[in-house]
Amino acid sequence: MNKILIAVSNLDYAREWAESFKQQSSEWTFHIWTPESPPIGAHYAVVWQPPQALFKQEKNLKAVFNLGAGVDALGVGTVIPKELPVYRVEDGGMAAQMAEYAIYGVILATGRFDVYARQQAERRWQTHAPILRAQWPVGVMGYGQIGAQVAQSVAQLGYTVAAWARSKRTETQGVELFTGAAQFEQFLQRTRILINVLPLTDATRGIINRRTLALLRPDGFVINMARGAHVVDEDLLAAVRSRQLRGALLDVFHTEPLPAEHPFWTEPGITITPHIAGISMRQETTAQIMHKIALLQQGQEPSGRVDTQLQY
Ligand code: GLV
Repeated sequence: MNKILIAVSNLDYAREWAESFKQQSSEWTFHIWTPESPPIGAHYAVVWQPPQALFKQEKNLKAVFNLGAGVDALGVGTVIPKELPVYRVEDGGMAAQMAEYAIYGVILATGRFDVYARQQAERRWQTHAPILRAQWPVGVMGYGQIGAQVAQSVAQLGYTVAAWARSKRTETQGVELFTGAAQFEQFLQRTRILINVLPLTDATRGIINRRTLALLRPDGFVINMARGAHVVDEDLLAAVRSRQLRGALLDVFHTEPLPAEHPFWTEPGITITPHIAGISMRQETTAQIMHKIALLQQGQEPSGRVDTQLQY
């Protein structure tokens, strides 16, 4: 019988994923991996933040499937041997959720809804100036499946949207595209709301820092729904405290859960959510993975393979 290993650190989640996979396929058996599990000679592994031991133990793996879009925690090419192909979830219902989250962040920033929430707590009736969209150019860092949907959804609200990507794209639908290191400063300088959906790689770690924040238009806003390590926390805090930034909406953090003593929790202007901006939808994700496994079994190459050089 063909075996698929499911390695998700939270065992309850692992069971829920296993249930969902079982509903997709009766040709395969699904096994939940724990550090105590003996080797079973699995053919494929489905993982979320997998422990290294798994790859030392399971020597028959033909491919690994990540349950999310971001593969930064996997150690592709290091923990996972270079020759073992890794596939990420492509969209899996995440792009639409993240577009909505971005829209929420844009409206929160421009409409000052965080300020109104604080005013309500004080029973204070005070109006603020209405939004002039032309004064709020939005810039999206990352223009893959997620970034494109985020940028285009915000553009549909009537904001001027640009995106920044590593390389040129053909389909940009109303979004001005900046590419490569050469156009990064130009992109930041025209941006007031900076939205981050980049993959976390050696090239993007710490990309939201004192220098890049200083290039944004004054009274800006940051929405981070990629990875916490894209941000230099002290630099972001300093920018909010000095009013260089109006605030930030943050879904991801260096350490998750965000430690109780972290200053982000209580900083006026900073809104926190617990890594929920884009959650892989179970049915779409399991169906997508089983489809890719079927292609591999037929000797075909599925899409979404992680490039070990680019790290995403
Ligand atoms: C979520 O953070 C993901 O990478 O899918």
